[in-house]
Amino acid sequence: MIGTAPEGFRAAITGIGSYVPDRILTNDELSKMVDTSDEWIIERTGIRERRIAAPEQALSDLCRPAIEQALVQAGREAAEIDLLIVATVTPDMAFPSTGAILADDLGMPDAAAYDLSAGCTGFMYALAQAYGMMAGGLAERALVVGGDVLSRILDWTDRATCVLFGDGAGAVVLERVENGGFLGFELGADGSGGPQLYQPAGGSRLPASAETVAERKHFAHMNGREVFKFATRVLVSSAEAILEKAGHRIDEVDVYIPHQANVRIIDHAVQKLGIPVDRVVVNVDRYGNTSSGSIPLALAEAQAEGRLHDGDLVLMTGMGAGLTWGSALMEWSSK
Ligand code: ACO
Repeated sequence: MIGTAPEGFRAAITGIGSYVPDRILTNDELSKMVDTSDEWIIERTGIRERRIAAPEQALSDLCRPAIEQALVQAGREAAEIDLLIVATVTPDMAFPSTGAILADDLGMPDAAAYDLSAGCTGFMYALAQAYGMMAGGLAERALVVGGDVLSRILDWTDRATCVLFGDGAGAVVLERVENGGFLGFELGADGSGGPQLYQPAGGSRLPASAETVAERKHFAHMNGREVFKFATRVLVSSAEAILEKAGHRIDEVDVYIPHQANVRIIDHAVQKLGIPVDRVVVNVDRYGNTSSGSIPLALAEAQAEGRLHDGDLVLMTGMGAGLTWGSALMEWSSK
Protein backbone atom coordinates (compact mmCIF):
# COMPACT_ATOMS: atom_id res chain seq x y z
CA MET A 1 0.00 0.00 0.00
CA ILE A 2 1.37 3.37 -0.93
CA GLY A 3 -0.15 6.83 -1.00
CA THR A 4 0.56 10.47 -0.62
CA ALA A 5 -1.71 12.63 1.54
CA PRO A 6 -5.10 12.84 -0.22
CA GLU A 7 -7.63 15.63 -0.18
CA GLY A 8 -8.79 15.96 3.40
CA PHE A 9 -7.58 17.15 6.76
CA ARG A 10 -3.86 17.46 7.33
CA ALA A 11 -2.46 15.86 10.47
CA ALA A 12 0.86 16.16 12.27
CA ILE A 13 2.59 15.02 15.43
CA THR A 14 2.11 17.72 18.06
CA GLY A 15 3.35 15.89 21.16
CA ILE A 16 5.87 13.14 21.86
CA GLY A 17 6.56 11.08 24.98
CA SER A 18 8.68 8.05 25.79
CA TYR A 19 9.44 5.71 28.63
CA VAL A 20 12.01 2.99 29.31
CA PRO A 21 12.26 0.92 32.49
CA ASP A 22 15.03 1.81 34.95
CA ARG A 23 16.76 -1.56 34.88
CA ILE A 24 19.78 -1.58 32.54
CA LEU A 25 21.02 -4.96 31.31
CA THR A 26 24.57 -4.71 29.95
CA ASN A 27 26.36 -6.98 27.50
CA ASP A 28 28.71 -8.05 30.28
CA GLU A 29 25.78 -9.23 32.39
CA LEU A 30 24.40 -11.13 29.39
CA SER A 31 27.75 -12.82 28.89
CA LYS A 32 27.27 -14.37 32.35
CA MET A 33 23.86 -15.73 31.30
CA VAL A 34 24.66 -17.14 27.83
CA ASP A 35 27.79 -17.92 25.79
CA THR A 36 28.38 -14.45 24.34
CA SER A 37 30.59 -11.40 24.89
CA ASP A 38 30.44 -7.61 24.89
CA GLU A 39 32.77 -7.61 21.84
CA TRP A 40 30.58 -9.98 19.80
CA ILE A 41 27.37 -8.10 20.55
CA ILE A 42 28.86 -4.68 19.80
CA GLU A 43 30.56 -5.82 16.60
CA ARG A 44 27.52 -7.68 15.21
CA THR A 45 24.74 -5.36 16.43
CA GLY A 46 26.08 -2.09 17.90
CA ILE A 47 24.05 -2.76 21.07
CA ARG A 48 25.76 -1.96 24.40
CA GLU A 49 22.83 -2.23 26.80
CA ARG A 50 19.04 -2.52 26.91
CA ARG A 51 16.26 -1.82 29.43
CA ILE A 52 14.26 -4.57 31.11
CA ALA A 53 10.82 -4.09 32.68
CA ALA A 54 10.41 -4.81 36.39
CA PRO A 55 8.45 -8.00 37.14
CA GLU A 56 5.34 -6.00 38.04
CA GLN A 57 5.47 -3.82 34.91
CA ALA A 58 3.18 -4.75 32.03
CA LEU A 59 2.95 -2.97 28.67
CA SER A 60 0.36 -0.44 29.87
CA ASP A 61 2.74 0.59 32.69
CA LEU A 62 5.37 1.50 30.08
CA CYS A 63 2.87 3.28 27.82
CA ARG A 64 1.16 5.37 30.52
CA PRO A 65 4.08 7.74 31.28
CA ALA A 66 4.86 8.06 27.56
CA ILE A 67 1.25 9.05 26.83
CA GLU A 68 1.16 11.51 29.73
CA GLN A 69 4.32 13.25 28.45
CA ALA A 70 2.97 13.40 24.89
CA LEU A 71 -0.30 14.96 26.08
CA VAL A 72 1.53 17.59 28.15
CA GLN A 73 3.70 18.51 25.20
CA ALA A 74 0.67 18.83 22.91
CA GLY A 75 -1.15 20.87 25.57
CA ARG A 76 -4.10 18.44 25.49
CA GLU A 77 -6.16 16.59 28.07
CA ALA A 78 -6.72 12.86 27.78
CA ALA A 79 -10.46 13.48 27.48
CA GLU A 80 -9.90 15.36 24.20
CA ILE A 81 -8.52 12.24 22.46
CA ASP A 82 -10.98 10.40 20.22
CA LEU A 83 -8.71 7.63 18.93
CA LEU A 84 -6.08 5.56 20.76
CA ILE A 85 -4.10 2.89 18.93
CA VAL A 86 -1.50 0.79 20.75
CA ALA A 87 0.93 -1.03 18.45
CA THR A 88 2.42 -4.05 20.19
CA VAL A 89 3.00 -7.80 20.15
CA THR A 90 3.18 -7.98 23.95
CA PRO A 91 -0.11 -6.53 25.25
CA ASP A 92 -0.98 -6.75 28.96
CA MET A 93 -3.15 -9.75 28.04
CA ALA A 94 -4.83 -11.15 24.91
CA PHE A 95 -8.00 -9.22 25.72
CA PRO A 96 -9.20 -6.69 26.66
CA SER A 97 -6.85 -4.63 24.53
CA THR A 98 -4.13 -2.57 26.18
CA GLY A 99 -5.67 0.37 24.29
CA ALA A 100 -8.97 -0.09 26.13
CA ILE A 101 -7.17 -0.49 29.46
CA LEU A 102 -5.19 2.72 28.93
CA ALA A 103 -8.19 4.71 27.70
CA ASP A 104 -9.98 3.82 30.93
CA ASP A 105 -6.94 4.47 33.17
CA LEU A 106 -6.17 7.84 31.65
CA GLY A 107 -9.72 9.07 31.14
CA MET A 108 -10.55 8.99 27.41
CA PRO A 109 -14.29 8.25 27.49
CA ASP A 110 -14.84 9.34 23.88
CA ALA A 111 -11.92 7.45 22.35
CA ALA A 112 -12.05 4.41 20.11
CA ALA A 113 -9.24 2.34 21.62
CA TYR A 114 -7.62 -0.85 20.38
CA ASP A 115 -4.35 -2.72 19.77
CA LEU A 116 -2.64 -3.31 16.46
CA SER A 117 -0.23 -6.16 15.69
CA ALA A 118 2.34 -5.71 12.93
CA GLY A 119 5.55 -6.78 14.70
CA CYS A 120 8.23 -4.14 14.91
CA THR A 121 6.42 -2.24 12.13
CA GLY A 122 3.40 -1.74 14.38
CA PHE A 123 4.04 1.92 15.11
CA MET A 124 4.21 2.75 11.39
CA TYR A 125 0.99 0.87 10.65
CA ALA A 126 -0.74 2.56 13.58
CA LEU A 127 0.42 6.02 12.44
CA ALA A 128 -0.95 5.38 8.94
CA GLN A 129 -4.26 4.17 10.33
CA ALA A 130 -4.66 7.14 12.67
CA TYR A 131 -3.71 9.52 9.88
CA GLY A 132 -6.23 7.92 7.52
CA MET A 133 -9.03 8.29 10.07
CA MET A 134 -8.06 11.90 10.72
CA ALA A 135 -7.71 12.83 7.06
CA GLY A 136 -11.12 11.29 6.41
CA GLY A 137 -12.75 13.22 9.24
CA LEU A 138 -13.53 10.22 11.48
CA ALA A 139 -11.13 11.28 14.23
CA GLU A 140 -9.98 14.73 15.27
CA ARG A 141 -7.25 14.03 17.83
CA ALA A 142 -5.39 10.73 18.05
CA LEU A 143 -2.84 9.08 20.28
CA VAL A 144 -0.57 6.54 18.66
CA VAL A 145 1.51 4.43 21.00
CA GLY A 146 4.21 1.90 20.17
CA GLY A 147 5.62 -0.29 22.87
CA ASP A 148 6.71 -3.79 23.77
CA VAL A 149 7.86 -5.82 26.74
CA LEU A 150 9.79 -8.30 24.64
CA SER A 151 11.77 -9.47 27.67
CA ARG A 152 8.66 -11.51 28.57
CA ILE A 153 8.76 -13.55 25.35
CA LEU A 154 12.54 -13.94 24.98
CA ASP A 155 14.29 -17.23 25.56
CA TRP A 156 17.02 -16.16 27.97
CA THR A 157 19.00 -19.30 27.11
CA ASP A 158 19.08 -18.48 23.36
CA ARG A 159 22.07 -16.22 22.67
CA ALA A 160 20.94 -15.66 19.07
CA THR A 161 17.87 -13.69 20.18
CA CYS A 162 18.12 -12.59 23.83
CA VAL A 163 21.00 -10.17 23.22
CA LEU A 164 19.08 -8.20 20.59
CA PHE A 165 15.98 -6.89 22.29
CA GLY A 166 14.84 -4.54 25.06
CA ASP A 167 11.69 -3.02 26.59
CA GLY A 168 10.30 0.48 26.02
CA ALA A 169 7.42 2.57 24.73
CA GLY A 170 6.78 5.85 22.95
CA ALA A 171 3.64 7.85 22.24
CA VAL A 172 2.64 10.65 19.90
CA VAL A 173 -0.37 12.96 19.76
CA LEU A 174 -1.71 13.61 16.25
CA GLU A 175 -3.69 16.76 15.57
CA ARG A 176 -5.03 18.62 12.56
CA VAL A 177 -2.69 21.27 11.17
CA GLU A 178 -2.97 23.85 8.42
CA ASN A 179 0.34 23.10 6.73
CA GLY A 180 2.77 20.22 6.45
CA GLY A 181 2.27 17.11 8.54
CA PHE A 182 2.12 13.62 7.03
CA LEU A 183 2.87 13.54 3.31
CA GLY A 184 2.46 9.83 2.68
CA PHE A 185 2.94 6.23 3.73
CA GLU A 186 4.22 3.01 2.19
CA LEU A 187 3.26 -0.19 4.02
CA GLY A 188 3.70 -3.83 3.10
CA ALA A 189 3.55 -7.40 4.36
CA ASP A 190 5.05 -10.65 3.08
CA GLY A 191 3.47 -13.44 5.10
CA SER A 192 5.61 -16.06 3.36
CA GLY A 193 8.44 -14.79 5.59
CA GLY A 194 6.39 -15.26 8.76
CA PRO A 195 8.33 -18.30 10.05
CA GLN A 196 11.56 -16.28 9.99
CA LEU A 197 10.46 -14.38 13.10
CA TYR A 198 7.61 -15.75 15.17
CA GLN A 199 6.23 -16.89 18.51
CA PRO A 200 4.85 -20.35 17.70
CA ALA A 201 2.72 -21.01 20.80
CA GLY A 202 0.14 -18.99 22.67
CA GLY A 203 -2.39 -18.40 19.90
CA SER A 204 -5.30 -20.47 18.59
CA ARG A 205 -3.01 -22.56 16.36
CA LEU A 206 -0.95 -23.84 19.26
CA PRO A 207 -2.37 -22.81 22.63
CA ALA A 208 0.22 -22.52 25.39
CA SER A 209 0.50 -25.74 27.38
CA ALA A 210 3.01 -27.51 29.59
CA GLU A 211 4.29 -29.16 26.42
CA THR A 212 4.77 -25.94 24.45
CA VAL A 213 6.52 -24.41 27.45
CA ALA A 214 8.82 -27.43 27.75
CA GLU A 215 9.61 -27.08 24.03
CA ARG A 216 10.18 -23.33 24.49
CA LYS A 217 7.63 -22.57 21.78
CA HIS A 218 6.08 -19.70 23.74
CA PHE A 219 9.26 -17.67 23.12
CA ALA A 220 10.26 -15.58 20.09
CA HIS A 221 12.12 -17.58 17.44
CA MET A 222 14.15 -15.92 14.73
CA ASN A 223 16.24 -16.81 11.71
CA GLY A 224 18.66 -13.91 12.14
CA ARG A 225 20.39 -14.19 8.77
CA GLU A 226 17.13 -14.22 6.79
CA VAL A 227 15.68 -11.33 8.80
CA PHE A 228 18.92 -9.42 8.28
CA LYS A 229 18.64 -9.82 4.48
CA PHE A 230 14.98 -8.82 4.52
CA ALA A 231 15.61 -5.80 6.75
CA THR A 232 18.48 -4.41 4.68
CA ARG A 233 16.38 -4.77 1.52
CA VAL A 234 13.12 -3.19 2.71
CA LEU A 235 14.68 -0.30 4.62
CA VAL A 236 16.01 0.92 1.30
CA SER A 237 13.14 -0.05 -1.04
CA SER A 238 10.40 1.33 1.21
CA ALA A 239 12.18 4.66 1.73
CA GLU A 240 12.82 5.02 -2.00
CA ALA A 241 9.20 4.17 -2.84
CA ILE A 242 7.63 6.74 -0.52
CA LEU A 243 10.08 9.46 -1.52
CA GLU A 244 9.30 8.92 -5.19
CA LYS A 245 5.54 8.80 -4.61
CA ALA A 246 5.65 12.02 -2.57
CA GLY A 247 7.89 13.77 -5.10
CA HIS A 248 10.89 14.21 -2.82
CA ARG A 249 14.55 13.23 -3.01
CA ILE A 250 16.69 11.65 -0.31
CA ASP A 251 18.95 14.71 -0.15
CA GLU A 252 15.93 16.73 0.98
CA VAL A 253 15.43 14.54 4.07
CA ASP A 254 16.54 16.41 7.19
CA VAL A 255 15.94 13.66 9.75
CA TYR A 256 15.96 9.91 9.04
CA ILE A 257 14.64 7.55 11.72
CA PRO A 258 15.09 3.88 10.80
CA HIS A 259 13.88 1.01 12.97
CA GLN A 260 16.52 0.43 15.65
CA ALA A 261 17.30 -3.28 15.25
CA ASN A 262 20.99 -3.41 14.50
CA VAL A 263 23.59 -0.76 13.66
CA ARG A 264 24.80 -2.85 10.71
CA ILE A 265 21.31 -2.84 9.17
CA ILE A 266 21.07 0.93 9.69
CA ASP A 267 24.57 1.54 8.25
CA HIS A 268 23.70 -0.49 5.18
CA ALA A 269 20.53 1.54 4.56
CA VAL A 270 22.31 4.84 5.17
CA GLN A 271 25.00 3.92 2.66
CA LYS A 272 22.58 2.63 -0.01
CA LEU A 273 20.23 5.58 0.36
CA GLY A 274 23.14 8.00 0.38
CA ILE A 275 21.96 10.05 3.34
CA PRO A 276 24.55 11.93 5.46
CA VAL A 277 25.09 10.23 8.84
CA ASP A 278 24.44 13.42 10.78
CA ARG A 279 20.79 13.23 9.64
CA VAL A 280 20.31 9.72 11.00
CA VAL A 281 18.89 9.03 14.47
CA VAL A 282 20.50 6.03 16.23
CA ASN A 283 19.88 4.89 19.80
CA VAL A 284 19.97 1.10 19.42
CA ASP A 285 23.26 1.12 21.34
CA ARG A 286 21.37 2.04 24.54
CA TYR A 287 18.02 0.32 24.11
CA GLY A 288 18.48 -2.62 21.74
CA ASN A 289 15.51 -3.45 19.54
CA THR A 290 12.36 -2.35 21.37
CA SER A 291 10.06 -3.47 18.54
CA SER A 292 7.07 -1.10 18.26
CA GLY A 293 8.74 1.23 20.78
CA SER A 294 11.80 1.69 18.60
CA ILE A 295 10.77 4.52 16.25
CA PRO A 296 8.83 6.64 18.77
CA LEU A 297 11.70 6.31 21.28
CA ALA A 298 14.12 7.54 18.62
CA LEU A 299 11.73 10.31 17.62
CA ALA A 300 11.51 11.47 21.26
CA GLU A 301 15.27 11.45 21.51
CA ALA A 302 15.66 13.44 18.28
CA GLN A 303 13.28 16.05 19.65
CA ALA A 304 15.04 16.20 23.02
CA GLU A 305 18.30 16.85 21.16
CA GLY A 306 16.69 19.76 19.26
CA ARG A 307 16.88 17.97 15.91
CA LEU A 308 13.24 18.49 14.81
CA HIS A 309 12.32 21.90 13.38
CA ASP A 310 9.14 23.06 11.68
CA GLY A 311 9.48 22.54 7.95
CA ASP A 312 12.00 19.68 8.27
CA LEU A 313 11.42 16.64 6.08
CA VAL A 314 11.32 13.59 8.35
CA LEU A 315 11.51 10.02 7.04
CA MET A 316 10.79 7.00 9.25
CA THR A 317 10.96 3.34 8.20
CA GLY A 318 10.18 0.27 10.26
CA MET A 319 10.32 -3.45 9.53
CA GLY A 320 9.69 -6.60 11.49
CA ALA A 321 7.64 -9.72 12.08
CA GLY A 322 5.06 -10.57 9.46
CA LEU A 323 7.30 -9.97 7.69
CA THR A 324 6.14 -6.37 7.48
CA TRP A 325 7.57 -2.98 6.66
CA GLY A 326 6.37 0.62 6.58
CA SER A 327 7.59 4.15 5.89
CA ALA A 328 6.13 7.55 6.67
CA LEU A 329 7.22 10.87 5.23
CA MET A 330 6.36 14.07 7.13
CA GLU A 331 6.95 17.76 6.91
CA TRP A 332 7.51 18.53 10.58
CA SER A 333 4.82 20.86 11.86
CA SER A 334 4.50 21.15 15.62
CA LYS A 335 1.17 23.07 15.52
N1 ACO B 1 27.17 -14.34 20.92
C1 ACO B 1 28.16 -15.02 20.34
N2 ACO B 1 28.00 -15.73 19.22
C2 ACO B 1 26.77 -15.74 18.68
C3 ACO B 1 25.68 -15.06 19.23
C4 ACO B 1 25.92 -14.33 20.40
N3 ACO B 1 24.95 -13.62 21.02
N4 ACO B 1 24.59 -15.25 18.46
C5 ACO B 1 24.98 -16.04 17.45
N5 ACO B 1 26.29 -16.35 17.57
C6 ACO B 1 27.11 -17.17 16.73
C7 ACO B 1 26.33 -18.11 15.88
O1 ACO B 1 26.03 -19.29 16.59
C8 ACO B 1 27.27 -18.37 14.74
O2 ACO B 1 28.20 -19.33 15.14
P1 ACO B 1 28.68 -20.45 14.10
O3 ACO B 1 29.35 -19.71 12.98
O4 ACO B 1 29.59 -21.28 14.93
O5 ACO B 1 27.42 -21.14 13.66
C9 ACO B 1 28.01 -17.05 14.59
O6 ACO B 1 27.79 -16.33 15.80
C10 ACO B 1 27.54 -16.23 13.43
O7 ACO B 1 26.11 -16.21 13.44
P2 ACO B 1 25.31 -15.39 12.38
O8 ACO B 1 23.85 -15.60 12.63
O9 ACO B 1 25.82 -15.63 11.02
O10 ACO B 1 25.73 -13.92 12.80
P3 ACO B 1 25.32 -12.59 12.10
O11 ACO B 1 26.51 -11.84 11.70
O12 ACO B 1 24.26 -12.82 11.06
O13 ACO B 1 24.65 -11.79 13.29
C11 ACO B 1 22.49 -11.28 14.09
C12 ACO B 1 23.52 -12.35 13.94
C13 ACO B 1 23.05 -10.16 14.93
C14 ACO B 1 21.28 -11.89 14.79
C15 ACO B 1 22.11 -10.74 12.69
O14 ACO B 1 21.79 -11.81 11.84
C16 ACO B 1 20.94 -9.83 12.74
O15 ACO B 1 21.03 -8.72 13.25
N6 ACO B 1 19.81 -10.24 12.15
C17 ACO B 1 18.64 -9.40 12.13
C18 ACO B 1 18.00 -9.49 13.43
C19 ACO B 1 16.98 -8.44 13.56
O16 ACO B 1 17.23 -7.30 13.27
N7 ACO B 1 15.83 -8.85 14.02
C20 ACO B 1 14.80 -8.02 14.28
C21 ACO B 1 14.33 -7.27 13.05
S1 ACO B 1 12.68 -7.30 12.91
C22 ACO B 1 12.22 -6.78 14.35
O17 ACO B 1 12.65 -5.75 14.73
C23 ACO B 1 11.36 -7.66 15.18
